[in-house]
Parts: sequence; structure tokens; C-alpha cells
Amino acid sequence: MNLTMLTPTHIPVLVRETLEALAVQPGGRYIDCTLGAGGHAATILEHSSPGGQLLGIDADPEAIKIARVRLEAYSGSTLLINENFTNLQAICLKYDFFPVHGILFDLGLSSLQLNGSGRGFSFRHDAPLDMRLSPSQEVTAADIINTSSEAELAHLIRKYGEEGYSRQIAHRIVNQRPIKTTLQLAQTIEQAIGWRRGRIHPATKTFQALRIAVNQELEHLEAALKQAINLLGFEGRLVVISYHSLEDRLVKQFMRQESRGCICPPGTPTCVCGHTVSLRLINKKVITPSLVEVQLNPRSRSAKLRAAERIINQDEQYMTIEELGFSTEIKANGWRRPALLRKLRSAFLAA
Ligand SMILES: C[S@@+](CC[C@H](N)C(=O)[O-])C[C@H]1O[C@@H](n2cnc3c(N)ncnc32)[C@H](O)[C@@H]1O
Repeated sequence: MNLTMLTPTHIPVLVRETLEALAVQPGGRYIDCTLGAGGHAATILEHSSPGGQLLGIDADPEAIKIARVRLEAYSGSTLLINENFTNLQAICLKYDFFPVHGILFDLGLSSLQLNGSGRGFSFRHDAPLDMRLSPSQEVTAADIINTSSEAELAHLIRKYGEEGYSRQIAHRIVNQRPIKTTLQLAQTIEQAIGWRRGRIHPATKTFQALRIAVNQELEHLEAALKQAINLLGFEGRLVVISYHSLEDRLVKQFMRQESRGCICPPGTPTCVCGHTVSLRLINKKVITPSLVEVQLNPRSRSAKLRAAERIINQDEQYMTIEELGFSTEIKANGWRRPALLRKLRSAFLAA
């Protein structure tokens, strides 16, 4: 297949809001953890020019190939890596790409993956039940469907799909096994719970649950968010766009927790957690697409954007600026390296 003949058909979501939330500036350094077809990446590179740099990560090798073609004009300022963002910190250390001005997560799947990619993500196209973002992953959706017990399936469909009819669906699946394709699974679910007029397709929630389980989406997101904080320079921005309530809840709780100091249970007489503030919330209320955007791009309807800014706690600032006298060097870059700060601090304490 000639990749240059592929027209990217994924429309990036909340583009203006993302650029604003990231506070993209010329010469800035950014990480796009979910490169996809490179739509957000292209606008970030455009607005950070001249001198901007972008590290793009995607677990799907096909996405990397497509984005590479799309971002060809910026090849001198981009580094595109086919990896899972759960390894974010290791990737940044390996390529010495930190600290950065902004990190973006635009979660979920691109339209390229959903629409007839043959990868089994959608019940609208017949394909083997695969759902892996990367062919290097071992477990497919078919493995889960055909080897889990009925109770395990029901639990998974309820937990990751928030499906009220999980037990009926699991029971029917187990009776119909082996199930090998997307249409076979969709029909089995429809037989189990029916399809009422005006409602979403009955297989929607089960497909979401399987995709989340196959790709360990929530575990990887949680791990990556924790790593992202220390890769952000002073006042660097963390921006996350999510598409379902499980993801959004995780992001909301993470940002809230990191924007608080002590997180000891209420009533604890003295702080024992030692937790320090590392983020400041940019938008207290979640940002959603306008009606016009939803009309132009229906896929955007469930998008929720949350953003926060890295702050360095007073202790760290005091040690570096006042005591160590490195302020000019560190401030010259406009922002500071948390890892460097820690090294300077321990050297100071040891002296
Ligand atoms: C919604 S799309 C991103 C679209 C992109 N912002 C654009 O404008 O074209 C999400 C992308 O994230 C990738 N992805 C999802 N989870 C990932 C993970 N844990 N590690 C790396 N990439 C991931 C998917 O393969 C997909 O290409």
C-alpha cells in the first residue's frame, strides 16, 4: 500500500481549545502521547514554529506511518516513536526529550482505526476479533471472549463497559462460543438483550469494555499521567481529552489530587501523607466541543478536555533559587527541570 495515497480521515477534536490549554508558543517543546493521524501534532508544530519540537508517540505502528507522511514538512523538528505511552518516562529519558512545555493525551481510537481498519474495533465492519493497538501485544479480544469464564466476562463487561445487562450478555456469549468475528459478537449481544429503537447499538458498551481490557487502557493512562508530571518544566501544561466516563473520572481525580497538598483522610490530626502540590488546574470546569463542532464532527460529541499546569513547590523553589544560586541558569530557559532540581537539592543537602 502506498501510504502517500492515504488521506488522513481522522478529524482532530477541540483543536483551538487544545492549543490554548497547552499555551503553545514559538520555540516550545511538546509531547503528543497519542499521535494518531498527526492532526493535533500538525497544529502544535505550526503554532510552535519557529523552533518548536515535538515528540509523537503511538502504540499503533500504522498510525506512526500515516503521521510521518502527514508531518513530513516538520521532519527536522519531530521525533515519532512507536511505543506505548505507559513507557513515557523511559522514552523521554532515552531521547533526552525533557523538560517540556506541554504534554497532550487525546485518548481512545482514531477514525482510521475504527473505520474499516480490519482490526476488529468496530461492530459496524466484519473483522477478526482482535482490538490490539499493537501487533506486539499478546492477548486479543477473541482470547478474552473465548477463554474467560462467564463470571469473568460479566465482571469485565460491567466494569469497563458500565453495561447493566452484563450477565445476560456473558451468558449468551458463553453459549455461542467460539466467537471469532466482530459481527458474530454483535449479533450474539443483540440476541441477548435486543435493540430498542432510538437507543445506541446494544454492542457499544461491550465493545468498549473489550477494547479497554485488551489494551489495559486505564492502567496505562494512570501510569503515564504520573510520569508526565516530572517531565513538565516550570508552568508546563498537561492536557487530556477523554471520550468516556471511566477515562474522564480517572483524569479528573488525578488532576484534583495533584492540585492538593495534604491528602490525608479528613480529621487526621497531623499530616502523614507527605503529599505535595504539583499541578494547578487551568479549567475548573471540563471543556467540551461546541454544537457547531459536534455537527461537523459527530465523533467529538463525547470529548472532554481537562488541563493543568505544573507548579514547583515552595521548598524546591527556595532550595534552587535562594540557596543554590543557579537561578539565572535555570530561569534562562524559562522553566526548570524537576529532575535537575532534585539533584541540585540533594547535592546541597549533602554539603
Ligand atoms: C484519538 S486518536 C489520536 C488522534 C490524534 N490526536 C490526531 O489528531 O490525529 C488516539 C491515538 O492514541 C493511540 N493510543 C491509545 N492508547 C495508547 C497508548 N497507551 N500508548 C500509545 N498510543 C496510544 C491510538 O493508537 C490512536 O492512534
